[in-house]
Amino acid sequence: MKNSFSSENCPLHWTDPSLEEKARGLAKAYGLTPAADAAPAAGSLILELTPKRLQLRLTGPHAPGAVYVDFGKFGYRRRQGSLKKEAIARACGLKGDRTLEVLDATAGLGKDAFILAALGARVTLVERSPVITALLDDGLQRAAELADLAAVAARMSLCCTDSTTLLRQQSPHAGPMSYISTPCIRKAEREPR
Ligand SMILES: C[S@@+](CC[C@H](N)C(=O)[O-])C[C@H]1O[C@@H](n2cnc3c(N)ncnc32)[C@H](O)[C@@H]1O
Repeated sequence: MKNSFSSENCPLHWTDPSLEEKARGLAKAYGLTPAADAAPAAGSLILELTPKRLQLRLTGPHAPGAVYVDFGKFGYRRRQGSLKKEAIARACGLKGDRTLEVLDATAGLGKDAFILAALGARVTLVERSPVITALLDDGLQRAAELADLAAVAARMSLCCTDSTTLLRQQSPHAGPMSYISTPCIRKAEREPR
């Protein structure tokens, strides 16, 4: 499906020639469009590989800051108590005292999945956009290198596909798993009963 985060709309640039091999590997893995030489036109949306991370950003002088996945920003060890109060944790009945298998059918930038994994769930993140999945993969790899996040990252696995297709293929005999699709939960929260 084509959307604003399609590979064609977000060519992959790299900020240093030493990153070219990694960038081309990413492009191959996720079907991204490598933009070898071309400097991006002002106002265009690009994926950019830097020495620190993979990020999505608008180019041009007044562009907002880049978007990237940073699981470290949640400071989750300090926030274990408040994570349990997050809507997504309450919706899944997860209080940090039991394990759960969850399939996040609309992973996005992974915040909900991270909250659940931080509370002990094993989460499969399904994201249909290769651009967003590449950002998630990069964030997970960086989290795996941080001592306090490695165990949480290890409970999160990525799948780049349309979840509706995946769910149709699920065997009715598959083990117990909870499914979340956060736009639906958020909508349900907004609407009075
Ligand atoms: C609102 S975001 C999800 C927010 C995310 N749960 C979080 O915590 O950051 C929606 C994401 O779901 C993805 N998405 C929507 N429908 C999908 C589908 N059928 N299969 C897989 N991903 C889907 C979109 O590409 C987008 O990245």
